Amino acid sequence: MEYVSEVFFELESYHIRGGNPIRGEYRVNGAKNAALPILAASIVTGGENLFDGCPCISDVAVMREILETLGCKVRQDKGQVLADTSGLSDWQVEKRLMEKMRSSIFLVGPLLTRCGRAIVSQPGGCAIGKRPVDIHKKALSQLGAEIEEKDGQLIFSGSDLRGTNIVLDFPSVGATENVMMAALGAKGETVIHNGAKEPEIIDLQNYLNSCGAKIKGAGTSRIVIKGRQRLHGSSYEIMGDRIEAGTFLMAAAGTGGELVLRGLETDSLKCLIRFLRYAGCRVRRKPREVWLRGPGRLYAVEKLQTGPYPEFPTDLQPQFSALMTAAAGRTQIEERIFENRFKSLRELTKMGADIEIFQRIAIIKGAECLKGAPVSAEDLRGGAALVLAGLMAQGETIVENIKFIERGYCDFHKELKKLGADIDRCI
Ligand code: UD1
Repeated sequence: MEYVSEVFFELESYHIRGGNPIRGEYRVNGAKNAALPILAASIVTGGENLFDGCPCISDVAVMREILETLGCKVRQDKGQVLADTSGLSDWQVEKRLMEKMRSSIFLVGPLLTRCGRAIVSQPGGCAIGKRPVDIHKKALSQLGAEIEEKDGQLIFSGSDLRGTNIVLDFPSVGATENVMMAALGAKGETVIHNGAKEPEIIDLQNYLNSCGAKIKGAGTSRIVIKGRQRLHGSSYEIMGDRIEAGTFLMAAAGTGGELVLRGLETDSLKCLIRFLRYAGCRVRRKPREVWLRGPGRLYAVEKLQTGPYPEFPTDLQPQFSALMTAAAGRTQIEERIFENRFKSLRELTKMGADIEIFQRIAIIKGAECLKGAPVSAEDLRGGAALVLAGLMAQGETIVENIKFIERGYCDFHKELKKLGADIDRCI
């Protein structure tokens, strides 16, 4: 049965007839990149947790399944998830689930804290780069965890972790979060230096503190965690998704539309908004609301490079690059986080985009207009970029392999349709 449904899922595609402006009001869902580590972190509480604002996306379904296979009880009703982790009875994550997404690596920190051990395998996820876990391993071993690699498994053990100073070689988002969660079980204080500053890390800190943890500094590069506090379950609302927000703003920007966006702290969109203004959009930002009107044709922004927060997010690079393929002028995009994040640009050349790629740099010469074509998503954000291109193009675009897109966007085609897009999901 599972095989049959997966085959159909593989075949589904979006059919988009471009040219309609995206107009209206949109409230973003809870953030995927906050919900996934927070759901994993609920393990450390050993109690009942009620989460609001959990996005209904397939990555969250995988995280739920992981928690259930470990003995937790999880129920989801739309955006509300009840996670009772009191019955946790296992510390080994199944290989087939590990392979479904990168975020499965978030189980290591919480399992170490709760059980003193964790058995996982290499995590899967979008193929946007090599994505090793060396920074996670090095930092966890500094806390005192022993790590053994055997038959493709990574075995972490350490029931006597000790707080210490940890300097990350790179501000990895996932490693910062994993260390925060493992440090909860360590004796004494852990200080993370050169930690990632992404807003989702603040959300993880806020959730854990609501459960009785003592963590401070998230949002800066120095995070301090006091270990071995008594923790309990809590009720928590997941923050709004800045990447989903950015994608919808760009859909309006690229189609000459007008959008009012709500449901998140808009501070996290500052860098994107700066670039959208360079590109000719009118934007007004309030603390929890953004209004944007796109011009008849966007201007090229000359140069954009991605970087750790608060620089331009790599998760919005493919979508912004798609906008630039039809902008007036030449744009140079430098991808500094992942080494293989231009795959959607290659697909866009099928729609008439003029793009040259030199390793981590793409030179885009804006075409007068994109033309609809069959294209295929190869990863989550690259897939969203193809949808944006389809909305901007003349004629029909068919985006195949939408399972990647639905890992991170909840009812993407339905929401775009409500805002005026001519888009259908077909088998
Ligand atoms: C998180 C986000 C993802 C986003 C990325 C960068 C979640 C669930 N996912 O992914 O959407 O694109 O941050 O903002 O929050 N690296 C190593 N060794 C490691 C860890 C990372 O070399 O042990 C490298 C990666 O290959 C990559 C860079 O560091 O080149 C950044 O990765 P990282 O910040 O860890 O991203 P993720 O946590 O996987």
